[in-house]
Amino acid sequence: MLLEVSEIQVHYGKIAALRGVSLQVDTGEIVALIGANGAGKTTTLKTISGLRPLSGGRIVFDGRDISRMPGHLRVVAGIGQAPEGRGIFPGMTVQENLLMGSYARKRGSEKILAEVYELFPRLAERKTQAGGTMSGGEQQMLAIGRALMGQPKVLLLDEPSMGLAPILVNQIFDIIAEINTRGTTVLLVEQNATQALRLADRAYVLETGRVVKAAPADQLLTDPDVQAAYLGGDLDTRAQDTRPTTS
Ligand SMILES: Nc1ncnc2c1ncn2[C@@H]1O[C@H](COP(=O)(O)OP(=O)(O)O)[C@@H](O)[C@H]1O
Ligand SMILES: [Mg+2]
Repeated sequence: MLLEVSEIQVHYGKIAALRGVSLQVDTGEIVALIGANGAGKTTTLKTISGLRPLSGGRIVFDGRDISRMPGHLRVVAGIGQAPEGRGIFPGMTVQENLLMGSYARKRGSEKILAEVYELFPRLAERKTQAGGTMSGGEQQMLAIGRALMGQPKVLLLDEPSMGLAPILVNQIFDIIAEINTRGTTVLLVEQNATQALRLADRAYVLETGRVVKAAPADQLLTDPDVQAAYLGGDLDTRAQDTRPTTS
């Protein structure tokens, strides 16, 4: 198991945001974490990347207990995060932003940079443009590209489709699939539950700081409770489920 989160508890002051969350991510998987606003998805990712301290439980990554490891060392260990709200450096160029992501890697950043540009031709076209002047979708690509520059073993993505036009949402999901095909394990947080479940191997449903369901993603797509709560009566999903797979 690449990442093993066991019974983690996280507090903001006296408020318990995570009340014993356990999840596992195996090498090569795409695992989705879905749930309503405030369920604790962002907190879970921030805690895995070391931005929030644990008040209980533990996190084992790549065979090591990282529960108390500082965030910058977790990047070195192989945990990459593209944060919610993107967090790029607006005054730096696209290329400078990308290179910031490889600070933890001494060697080979040119090769990874070339790979990131291949994955995101849009960024290659705009190397010298200031990050802050890029569109929302381009900034999202930049944030993901920057996380990839650290050559993570697992990439944590917090709502990569947030605020994007439908065509860009599809592009982002295609790119996540491609990143995974090229060998990076992915833990994906999404409000866009239908698309996340179609992409993922397995998924966890979070409700008020607890995991309430864990199952193969295709099973959750057809789960009546999940459909009612998170898939918004998506007729397209149901229609697909009754038809043979054509792809
Ligand atoms: N900085 C913060 N200070 C206090 N409470 C917070 C803070 N960030 C998140 N919370 C609370 O923690 C809970 C989980 O939030 P979050 O992890 O952001 O949920 P999600 O990403 O699923 O929407 C919510 O109740 C939220 O209000
Ligand atoms: Mg969030």
